[in-house]
Amino acid sequence: KVPKLTLNNGLQCPALGLGTWQATPGEVGSAVKHAIDIGYRHIDCAMLYGNEKEIGEAIREKLKEGVVKREDLFIVTKLWNTFHEREQVVPACKKSLENFGLDYIDLYLIHWPVAQKLLGELDVDFPFKNAVGLDYDYVDTWKGMEECVDLGLTKSIGLSNFNSKQVQRVLDAARIKPVMNQIEVNPNINQKILIKFCRDRGIEVTAYSPFGSPSRPWAKPGDPVIHLTDPKLVAIGKKYKKTAAQIVLRYVFELGTIPIPKSTNKQRLAANLDIFNFELSSSDKAIIDQFNCNGRAVPAMELKGIAHYPFKDDEF
Ligand code: A2P
Repeated sequence: KVPKLTLNNGLQCPALGLGTWQATPGEVGSAVKHAIDIGYRHIDCAMLYGNEKEIGEAIREKLKEGVVKREDLFIVTKLWNTFHEREQVVPACKKSLENFGLDYIDLYLIHWPVAQKLLGELDVDFPFKNAVGLDYDYVDTWKGMEECVDLGLTKSIGLSNFNSKQVQRVLDAARIKPVMNQIEVNPNINQKILIKFCRDRGIEVTAYSPFGSPSRPWAKPGDPVIHLTDPKLVAIGKKYKKTAAQIVLRYVFELGTIPIPKSTNKQRLAANLDIFNFELSSSDKAIIDQFNCNGRAVPAMELKGIAHYPFKDDEF
């Protein structure tokens, strides 16, 4: 059974979700349906991923079948970088709702603090391509996010890929507080500092790429990876009768975050849910702490140099 966290607006959020980036057309719908069948209640999406329609169909099928009630699901989606102008936010949110065929979402996130203007086609595998940077302040974007709550399009709003200074600027200006910051968290970048910063301010943290996104298309030889055959992870797993992948997810959960592992495979979907019946010892956690190396799977190098690029070398 997946535990729930209470957000700063009183809403409950399941402490593990299903990631859907790179869950391909034809595959993602059946993965979502199976995930709901076996107990997933939190689904992480984004307009960028290009699969909101298929995910929405799968969700609506499960609602219709009575497998789950809408109020028991936690559906997240994100505002893409090319819709940051305040007037663009409500229409973008409405577009996502139309894609899903739902009348509200539970959480709407600003995908990145950086704004861009699209020049060509959006490419889901290389999302920052075919666009130029815009110097647009995410605090103004936030006002559009607040309008989405006012209009009942989303129950809550939050951030993604924001560093601590950026989180603070939003908090200082917000009429409606962000409930979440979704950031990369895995053994290679455990984010203890930013997690504490957010949680001290009542903002929960969602952990994307909990496995370090092994199939990311931009990875080059020598880039950081998490080997699920790593002897240290495998040895820890043996102690708890768990796989290395489950050890990694449990570690990310025990960091105080909400992991959203992506899988479209039935066996792995089930395994990723099965991490709430054991607890890592502090010495095992200390072993995994040693993987921390600022090894981002998603450094978004293409955004470097654009206003509001979030990642500084001292921020991990
Ligand atoms: P698949 O969808 O075939 O299961 P991340 O969430 O860090 O981006 O990682 C997602 C990647 O990890 C996908 O390639 C996914 O492949 C794979 N994956 C998901 N769950 C597991 C697991 N339990 N063991 C090994 N690989 C996994």
